[in-house]
Amino acid sequence: MSLPDPIGRALPHESARAHVQGSARYTADLPDLAGTLHAAPVCAPHARARLVALDVSAALAHPGVATVLTAADVPGVNDSSAHGGDEPLFADPEVLYWGHAVAWVLAESEAAARAGAALVRATCEPLPALLSIEAAIAAGSFHGPEQRLRWGDPEAALARAPHRLEGELFVGAQDHFYLETHTAYALLEPDHTLHVYSSTQHPSETQGVVAQVLGVPANRVTVTCLRMGGGFGGKESQGAPYAAVAALGALKTGRPVRVRLRRSDDMVMTGKRHPFWGRYEVGFHPDGTLGAVVLELFSDGGFSSDLSLPVMGRALFHADNAYYAPHRLVRGRVCKTHKTSQTAFRGFGGPQGMLFAEEIIDRVARSLGLPPDAVRARNLYCAAGARATTHYGQLILDSHLERVWHEVLSRADVARRRAELAAFNAAHPHCKRALAVTPVKFGISFTKTPMNQAGALVLIYLDGSVQLNHGGTEMGQGLLTKTLQVAAATLGVPLERLRVMPTATDKVPNTSPTAASSGSDLNGQAVKAACETLKGRLAGVAAKLLGLSAPEVLRFEGGEIFCPYQPQRRLLFTDVVRQAYLEQVPLFATGYYRTPNLHFDPATGRGRPFHYFACGAAASEVEVDGFTGAFKLRRVDIVQDVGAPLNPLIDRGQIEGGFVQGLGWLTMEEALWDAAGRFVTNAPSTYKIPTIADVPEAFHVAFLPDAATPGVIGGSKAVGEPPLMLALSVREALREAVAAFTEAPPRRVELAAPATPEAILWAIERVRAEPVRDLVSGD
Ligand code: MTE
Ligand code: MOS
Repeated sequence: MSLPDPIGRALPHESARAHVQGSARYTADLPDLAGTLHAAPVCAPHARARLVALDVSAALAHPGVATVLTAADVPGVNDSSAHGGDEPLFADPEVLYWGHAVAWVLAESEAAARAGAALVRATCEPLPALLSIEAAIAAGSFHGPEQRLRWGDPEAALARAPHRLEGELFVGAQDHFYLETHTAYALLEPDHTLHVYSSTQHPSETQGVVAQVLGVPANRVTVTCLRMGGGFGGKESQGAPYAAVAALGALKTGRPVRVRLRRSDDMVMTGKRHPFWGRYEVGFHPDGTLGAVVLELFSDGGFSSDLSLPVMGRALFHADNAYYAPHRLVRGRVCKTHKTSQTAFRGFGGPQGMLFAEEIIDRVARSLGLPPDAVRARNLYCAAGARATTHYGQLILDSHLERVWHEVLSRADVARRRAELAAFNAAHPHCKRALAVTPVKFGISFTKTPMNQAGALVLIYLDGSVQLNHGGTEMGQGLLTKTLQVAAATLGVPLERLRVMPTATDKVPNTSPTAASSGSDLNGQAVKAACETLKGRLAGVAAKLLGLSAPEVLRFEGGEIFCPYQPQRRLLFTDVVRQAYLEQVPLFATGYYRTPNLHFDPATGRGRPFHYFACGAAASEVEVDGFTGAFKLRRVDIVQDVGAPLNPLIDRGQIEGGFVQGLGWLTMEEALWDAAGRFVTNAPSTYKIPTIADVPEAFHVAFLPDAATPGVIGGSKAVGEPPLMLALSVREALREAVAAFTEAPPRRVELAAPATPEAILWAIERVRAEPVRDLVSGD
């Protein structure tokens, strides 16, 4: 497949220059129009309480305060959820988590709004709250039903397995820590319609929520997303309440209203990556191959259902990571607690499911005294035969899993380095180095099948310049760069002639969120479809001009249109556009795409939920200090299958960034709530995200060669989320280093997640204290 230029070119991000110069406009950069009011939340200081009385008089008397928004102001529904009906925008009559807003103060300045918010008196009667997964399980407090996937006969296979073990694991939350916090700016137009600028991955849903809160039809609300300063899933659903507050304020006061959360409010009020607790039983063979896995997962969904059910669904789809088991049962329940409503976060539950897969493989390997890497390799799905089917019946075809695995082993020179590491460790009693290789297999498509659709609207003006609109949003991931490349390649015009517009609901309606890593797969195809329509029309006009009868053979390249058999006779794209206008040929077109051949039946747990799998593998080497538990990431080698990359520069950035974000989740970001349910790690002083100093010194990223994907735009593969889970290699390398602190290889290494220095130190203490013998029957 040869790709038309500029698809496949390593072009910089379309806003790279503007990002660096500070001229790229974000929602909060929109200048204040005259009369703009600023909003500040009044957050309830209880995890759960009944709101008894609300006294806003002192706030109203404060200089600069214009009004206070409360539940009584809501003309529509006091609910900011898209489906559940379980997200009171104002905590009335019940506060559902610590930080739940009971009111919003609008004032002439942000400072005045905050001062006013501090003066609102909310009288609350505290109620007993559920603050952990354990408490919710004990109380039977859940969102939605149990979900399950079942393959083979796991109970029987477990009973007859030669070896068996069981265990449990907890993994904590992760804050998105996008650089730009949640923000919105709402304008009431003279005709009493609303225009809301929102930092959202999902403008259409935001439009729906605003309309629901205001009690107006959706056509009276336009939502525009200029770009986001990071979303990472945190703005897939959770931008909506802030857009609704701004819109409600604009409607009530007739003035523009801006909401811009400060960092600590954002961290206290908004949802995070779900904490998970799970227990498993695994049956296996003496060579370490899996016989049967039974896994039960519980996530902490927080106060509302939000996206927690599909997040659990994806965790269950990915509880195998890249490993085949002939018998598998995975069950999942979402706990309903009185905490922030946990939400989408890069990987969407996949990372948590895969963490359990790696935990299980490591337990199996160490209990048998086998090298974990060898056991991982032995359990990888095969590209054909019986070991090619997942626990929901989808075949792993052309997934290149074995190829990425072998490629990373050789690129990282794993065999030679292992010998070096052993020598180093023998000479250093208090400092250990270790290396681990882990695979990733990530299913691409929204698991809610109808969401796999996208639309575009492309306009050509008489001077031959082109405007591009589609439903995808830009959050730094480079989607707009990629869709520009697709349009330029399809129309054969230089990139400079193209402009991509901010994402807006009045251009393309009813869009899916930009999520599930499928932004460029879906919107790229929709843009291509629109451009193909226009190209077909222009080709008809050009053929007449050239006196040819076969418009379909015409080439569009470099701003020219010509027949490959008569390349000396060329027409300018612009001239053909003008002629098309004169011939009354429309110069704008929509494009639409839906992913073909997807189906999944939740009742039977069978189907083909994913268009394809994006696979990768990483080899990470760490050095652990035995006195402090601190570690250094010495070297990382990654091989990721991105198909034929649409833009190798952007894809490399996604791989590096995703990996480092995963590193944060697994090793340093410790999100904590106190006994009263208050999120206490609410600032960078107490919540440690990776910095440039944590990026490995030697960081080698390679794309799997010759991996063009049929049926995907330009032969590319999605790249936004899968690399995050490559950081599992760091966790396993740390575990391997911990094991090296004892003479005899321990039969088990327990390591908390995240593996902070403190957790690593405890792990070392445990393996040193006594070698843990696993319960391995028949051993
Ligand atoms: N990269 C940057 N720079 N900022 C982001 O917010 N979000 C990630 C990923 N990469 C994100 C990012 C997430 S969670 C997803 S689902 C994808 O980008 C979404 O974009 P795509 O579908 O266009 O890849
Ligand atoms: Mo990404 S978690 O699918 O927004």
